[in-house]
Order: sequence, then structure tokens, then C-alpha cells
Amino acid sequence: MKTYRIAAIPGDGIGTEVVAAGVEVLQALARREGRFAFQVDHFDWGSDYYKRHGRMMPADGREQIRHHDAIMFGSAGAPDVPDHITLWGLRLAICQPFDQYANVRPTRVLPGIVSPLRGVAGPELDWVIVRENSEGEYAGVGGRVHQGSPLEAATDVAMHTRKGVERIMRFAFGLARSRPRKLLTVVTKSNAQRHGMVMWDEIAVEIAAEFPDVTWDKMLVDAMTMRMVMRPQSIDTVVATNLHADILSDLAAALAGSLGIAPTANLNPERAFPSMFEPIHGSAFDIMGKGIANPIGTFWSAVMLLDHLGEPAAGQRLMRAIERVTADKRFHTPDLGGSARTVDVTAAVIRAIEVGNA
Ligand code: IPM
Ligand code: MG
Repeated sequence: MKTYRIAAIPGDGIGTEVVAAGVEVLQALARREGRFAFQVDHFDWGSDYYKRHGRMMPADGREQIRHHDAIMFGSAGAPDVPDHITLWGLRLAICQPFDQYANVRPTRVLPGIVSPLRGVAGPELDWVIVRENSEGEYAGVGGRVHQGSPLEAATDVAMHTRKGVERIMRFAFGLARSRPRKLLTVVTKSNAQRHGMVMWDEIAVEIAAEFPDVTWDKMLVDAMTMRMVMRPQSIDTVVATNLHADILSDLAAALAGSLGIAPTANLNPERAFPSMFEPIHGSAFDIMGKGIANPIGTFWSAVMLLDHLGEPAAGQRLMRAIERVTADKRFHTPDLGGSARTVDVTAAVIRAIEVGNA
């Protein structure tokens, strides 16, 4: 029997609660499928580790997870540690060296969940946002001088490389092609940012020629926020820079009903390194330890993990179980207006996996 090795990094805040739930669900799925097993190794990296060791993960941390088949991540961030330390010390310290350049963020209004947009349900809002995940505004290029003096200055330079833009564009066109509508929107801000964003536009035209069967259009990022709200049906696959897609994906998650259900995959499509799967909600200190975190974002991320491992049938089984559970309001956590607890949702999804007829 095939055994997949999963590195679980729960991190901070509700990350620990939802990753524990995600691991339970994956194990239940493996039992139900009977064709494969998961060996899950846990890594206690994050802000508590930082307080003890002065760093978010050990110096050889990446080596420890380098040969796992996938990484399941919770979140990084704590009220008493600066955000740029938690981010650069853990999540980006994995994403960037492991060249997980394609960040994939599907959004749908799941059964039983109400979109804040009037009249919008499943068929009207079914998107995948592809976020460039290795450079752009998150490249880390910049600096700060004259700190503490009135002359203080700081820069964050958005760095876009031809190679980086070509590969994310090719990935996005390929993903758009694999979806029924074969429709891609390329989002930039090439009216105001006249160097990097203009290069994005030019590369989009070049790569589009390789995908004659994909219909595509371009949109400025500000206009895109309006289109997402006013004409959600007109959108299918979207590609944008690291920061633009970060912002658009929060809007997308809210329009789909809650940040608590939104999943993400940080992919190294060439599989030279493991890919990483996580809910997009973050550590949510305000509700941590209360047992009310919505684990659906992690479960949906586990569906993406299964697809990446080459187990799409198991992924579909899990997705059906998730949808059966969201359809039942008794299993809605407070972010969805209900009063269910993390353990209730987890138990319901496991039950749906076990009794599921498919
Ligand atoms: C996300 C998050 C992160 C990001 C934060 C936690 C730094 O917002 O995954 O969307 O901006 O990348
Ligand atoms: Mg974000």
C-alpha cells in the first residue's frame, strides 16, 4: 500500500486547531479508501518556537521537510511577535526556497452557505484565482535608511522577472484550459505602474498565443474589484501579482460567504520541492483556543493536497463530504452565523466520509 508522508506545520493561533482537524479527516479518508495511508509528521514551528529559540523554525527546518510528499500548514502570526518576522520566518521561508510559485485559490459558494451578494449561489460564482507567489511585491527587495531621523526613507520594490511572469502566466492559461469555460482574466495595474505591469501585459499576449482555445481578457485591479461584485458570473480563472491576488482573494472569500472556508495551494508545479496546502484565514487570535474555528478551509485545502498527490477520486470524495456538511446549517461555525464547534464540523465530515455512498 502506498504511504504518503505529510509534514504538518500547524503554526500559530487557530492553525493548531484546524490542522489537527485536517489530519483527522485525512486519516479517516485513508481508512475509507483503503488504497493508501498517510504518515503525518508534526513540526511545532511558529511563534512559540520563536519565543524559545529566537527563530520561527530550525536552521535545518527545510531539510527536515524537503522529502515529504506535501506540507499541511496552519497559519503564522501572533499578537506579540511582529508580523514581518512570523511571515518571513516561516511561511515565506518555506514558499520561496521551495519555489512554490503558483498559489491557487478556488472560490465557490458551497451548498448551504449564503453569499452577501444578492441572488448569487453556486453557478454564479465559481472562480479560481492564481496568485504569483515567488516575487512581485513580496520579493523582499527594498530597504530602510536614516531610521529615527526626519530623513528616514523606506522602499519596497516590486520585482517582476520575465521568467517568473512567463511561468505563472503559462500555469494560469493551462489551468483555465482545464476548466469547462476556458476563460482567463489577466489582472494588472499597467496604467499607473508603467514598467513591471506593462511587462505582465506583454507576456500575457505572448503566452496567450500558446493557448488559442482559451478566451482571455485583461482588467485593471481596481476595476476587477467592481466586476467581482457586479458581474461575478463573467469571471472564471484569474491571474494576478502576489499582492493584487492577495487582496482579490480576500474579497473573493468574503463574497463566497466566509474567509473560514477558503483554501489555498502553494504549488511547485515541477515537483522539485514539496507543495504546501493551507487555509487562507490566518491565525485569528480573537477566536483562538475557543474551539470555534471553521475547519472547512483546511478540509478544502486537503482536497487540493489529494489532487496534487494524484488522488483526485479521494479528493472528490472529501469534497462531497464537505458539501454535505455545509449544506446542513447545524454544522455552521460562528463565522457562518451558526454555533457549531470545530469538533462538530470535523465529526460530521468524518461521518459523511464513512457513510458516503460514493
Ligand atoms: C494570505 C495572507 C498572507 C499573505 C499574510 C498572512 C502575510 O494574507 O495568505 O493571503 O499576505 O500572503
Ligand atoms: Mg491574504
